[in-house]
Amino acid sequence: MHLARLRLRDFRNYARLDVTFAPGFHLLLGNNAQGKTNLLEAIYLLATLRSFRGVGSAQMLRYGSPRYFVGAEVVGDGGHEIRMAWSATERRLSLDGTPVRKLADYLGVLRVVVFCTEDLQLVKGPAGRRRRFLDLLLTQTHRTYLPLLQRYMQALRSRNALLKAREPDAAALESFTRELIAAGEPLVRLRRELLPRISALTRLAYRQIAHDAEEVRLDYEPSVREDFAAELARQRARERVYRATLVGPHRDEVRLLLDERPAAQFGSEGQKRSLAVALKMAQAEYLTGLHGTPPILLIDDVMGELDASRRAGLLPLLERSHQASGQVFMTCTEENWPRELGRRLQRWQVHQGALQPLEPAKG
Ligand SMILES: Nc1ncnc2c1ncn2[C@@H]1O[C@H](COP(=O)(O)OP(=O)(O)OP(=O)(O)O)[C@@H](O)[C@H]1O
Ligand SMILES: [Mg+2]
Repeated sequence: MHLARLRLRDFRNYARLDVTFAPGFHLLLGNNAQGKTNLLEAIYLLATLRSFRGVGSAQMLRYGSPRYFVGAEVVGDGGHEIRMAWSATERRLSLDGTPVRKLADYLGVLRVVVFCTEDLQLVKGPAGRRRRFLDLLLTQTHRTYLPLLQRYMQALRSRNALLKAREPDAAALESFTRELIAAGEPLVRLRRELLPRISALTRLAYRQIAHDAEEVRLDYEPSVREDFAAELARQRARERVYRATLVGPHRDEVRLLLDERPAAQFGSEGQKRSLAVALKMAQAEYLTGLHGTPPILLIDDVMGELDASRRAGLLPLLERSHQASGQVFMTCTEENWPRELGRRLQRWQVHQGALQPLEPAKG
């Protein structure tokens, strides 16, 4: 699968862009603040309908513009055309000329994995970061996951709103509780099934890039231990005090362990960084294994942060993607692009929201 064409109108600092991309390796070179990350953000947005910077669409409007447009042609199993437009009053998303009604039908069309400096928060940040990582991966691999998650979050919001009342209506609470359990139980089941696989892949990836003796393990700690209904019932008194739902998959944790010790507390900075990259490598490997073709890799500024030996650990993943006619988009400043990648790459100059192809690399 690859992104064959990308069109942008009034997206971030791109007033207008229309560019075609071959399969393979694309190196986006340029000084700071020219639009390298913005381009990756647009591709990620097409794939996930979110920004990996964690911002809303309003921030992606080019300053002063009321509307942005992002369009793409994807070549994979068959070809697809995606058109997306956003303004304060209009949200449009179409696939092959037809408006998208169910997101679950759309989200498999373009699969991406992003590597960026923010990934460190997967290790250092709160549990919500790790839940989001699981949620994205399960959304990318199970069509039923996103609708379940949306149902669960809706029930949770309604239930929490009700618990804010002085005397919550018992019948309404009962009905939201039933809905919470109905959506929550399969979420936990899918997370539980995924974890051992992702744990094994992360362990392998960590060995490749860190060359350390530590063993990585991911440990799923579901908030619900056995019976969701019984545990909710047990929490009723505390819920009245806190006025919120205190158990459920919205409280799940994934512990990241290095030799059985929590990486966030005991790992060195280098180990945390390696672990963050390993988690993303595991995501890419998992998607490749499941779909038979690699996802598009978006690598933002990460190469500059890794030393040569850890960079070398990432190369097999990039190579495999290359061999399978996948695509890699990597941003670098002129000084720090990884020359060990050789000449089989397309270099682009990014300058003030415009893209120019450069001559093939020497070396
Ligand atoms: N909504 C927006 N509208 C117009 N320009 C924007 C918008 N958001 C950011 N920019 C501009 O885009 C540029 C930053 O782009 P980007 O983050 O892609 O830089 P970069 O090339 O990745 O730089 P670096 O190497 O520093 O990471 C800045 O000049 C910023 O002012
Ligand atoms: Mg950048």
